[in-house]
Amino acid sequence: MKGIILAGGNATRLRPLTKITSKQLLPVYDKPMIFYPIETLVQAGIKEILIIVAPDYAGHFLNLLGSGSDFGANFSYEVQQKPGGLSEAFIIGEKFIDGDSVTMILGDNIFDHNFSEHIKNFESGAVVFAKEVPDPERYGVIEFDENKNVLSIVEKPENPKSNYAMVGIYICDNKVSGFAKSVKPSDRGEIEITETINQYLDKKELKVEIIEGMWEDAGTFDSLLKVSNLIAEKERGVRNQ
Ligand code: DAU
Repeated sequence: MKGIILAGGNATRLRPLTKITSKQLLPVYDKPMIFYPIETLVQAGIKEILIIVAPDYAGHFLNLLGSGSDFGANFSYEVQQKPGGLSEAFIIGEKFIDGDSVTMILGDNIFDHNFSEHIKNFESGAVVFAKEVPDPERYGVIEFDENKNVLSIVEKPENPKSNYAMVGIYICDNKVSGFAKSVKPSDRGEIEITETINQYLDKKELKVEIIEGMWEDAGTFDSLLKVSNLIAEKERGVRNQ
């Protein structure tokens, strides 16, 4: 199992902070944001990790993260010239994936959930993760029945069919790059992750797992502050034990 961290994009929602650095290098409590998805992958047992960055601060990532040895991992890097959509990670990463399975995580998604069991048990197809949220229309929305059979996945729907967001971590088998290549850009000019994942659904090869622990997409001022506070509280709790 390989790992990809998608850490590009323009992060216009976080300006002016992102006029001086990349979103994924901003602090979340006491660490740069990207440390969290790295630790999520490493904790799950993934050591071969491709980090995809935007051109602007690419060198800063290399300075900060280097070979990956500080994390007990092996990092490779690719540049995404412009934000063409989340599915592009599987196209840019095709050579790196090299016929293996891959877990892709977004560089601004912060989890308090251990994915090792899901990764150990993964055989083929794809696994996505759902978390109940109060504002599903902001996310990819996943609808499923009581047996966790997925019924639909829609990107930022006006009328969400469930309260479950599809969070930013995806486990996929080696068909994923081929599927991503067949996706046509959406109205916002991106090759959407939902379109790639829907091809697994069409083949009845998609599973969903529900996440109980903390999950935050740290892409707005409010969520950045919220997740920093949550982690600070957790760290203080550990220190006071
Ligand atoms: O956070 C989970 C959500 O992430 C999912 O529920 C949605 O299905 C998924 O589309 C995505 O929605 P966002 O609106 O949060 O996507 P955003 O454009 O903010 O991109 C997510 C991260 O990926 C962000 O840190 C920037 C990076 N990115 C984005 C694009 C479009 C790239 O590195 N390259 C890209 O081309």
